[in-house]
Amino acid sequence: MTSSSRPRILSGMRPTGALHVGHLVGALENWVALQSSHECFFSIVDWHALTTDYADPSAVRANVREVALDWLAAGIDPVRSTVFVQSAVKEHAELHLLLSMIVPLSWLERVPTYKEQQEQLREKELNTYGFLGYPLLQAADILAYRADAVPVGEDQVPHVELCREIARRFNHLYGAVFPEPRVLLTPSPRVPGLDGRKMSKSYGNAILLGDPHAAIEDKILRHMVTDPARKRRPDPGNPEICPVFDHHRIFSSPEQREWADAGCRSAAIGCRDCKSVLLENYRTRLEPIRERRAALAREPEAVDLLLARGAARAREAATATLVLVRSAVGVGE
Ligand code: TRP
Ligand code: SF4
Repeated sequence: MTSSSRPRILSGMRPTGALHVGHLVGALENWVALQSSHECFFSIVDWHALTTDYADPSAVRANVREVALDWLAAGIDPVRSTVFVQSAVKEHAELHLLLSMIVPLSWLERVPTYKEQQEQLREKELNTYGFLGYPLLQAADILAYRADAVPVGEDQVPHVELCREIARRFNHLYGAVFPEPRVLLTPSPRVPGLDGRKMSKSYGNAILLGDPHAAIEDKILRHMVTDPARKRRPDPGNPEICPVFDHHRIFSSPEQREWADAGCRSAAIGCRDCKSVLLENYRTRLEPIRERRAALAREPEAVDLLLARGAARAREAATATLVLVRSAVGVGE
């Protein structure tokens, strides 16, 4: 297939810092696979980071670099895919502005993440125009490439639905410019952090892709919680409620899972045995990523160059869309 006959996808991630295994199995591995069947655009969306972190944006630039290293190390291929930083492609901003003219406030106010996030991040002042417009900026990211589909997790489905509505409204007002992008739902397994809550950098319970193996060993053997009812070695346990077992589901073979499941329930194995097998699988899976990441981190100019090339390619595609958009609206050149 030539790249132009493949369906085009776009996805993005906010630069919140170094990525963890939740990102790997919940998004990156899926993106890596999509590269052989789709024309891919992957964007590090730094303007989106400002919607919540505008008061202290000092970490954003460094976080962008961390994310770029993690993506490339995990197998995002900058030759086959267009990898770029959102703020390097100003067309997103122009499209965001034009779309802001046609989107009713009520569409944005009813996005479920809007009120939820405002509640959750109560320490931040999020009664801002930028925060309300978060999903609109996301729609601009997608529509700037006239993407056919958007690979995202469950939590992002309302945003893509909104994007479809915005595309429809634009087409209705000005003529058919945008395809309505489909959701490409990423199957995301449950990835608990060390404490059993959802893995998240802000909870301090994450296993990072760049962690040295010794750090992962410490995190898993010493800190990852187990079935709390299994206090002593002879007590049987319940793998269904154990975070370690959730990780076995992701990182271990069916035989190893069966071994852990049966051994836990009968107390034939101890938690230490169970964790040691998981740890070895972690080593095998993350070692190549860790090595690539370290090599890339030693060559910051090379990474900059890749991002610059990605931005140039993205700009070219987005500019082609904006030519259609300006002509449809009748404003801009
Ligand atoms: N909102 C997305 C998230 O938090 C990130 C994002 C921004 C995105 N722009 C996008 C995802 C465009 C897909 C397509 O995960
Ligand atoms: Fe969890 Fe394994 Fe211990 Fe069972 S044996 S409680 S699955 S760590």
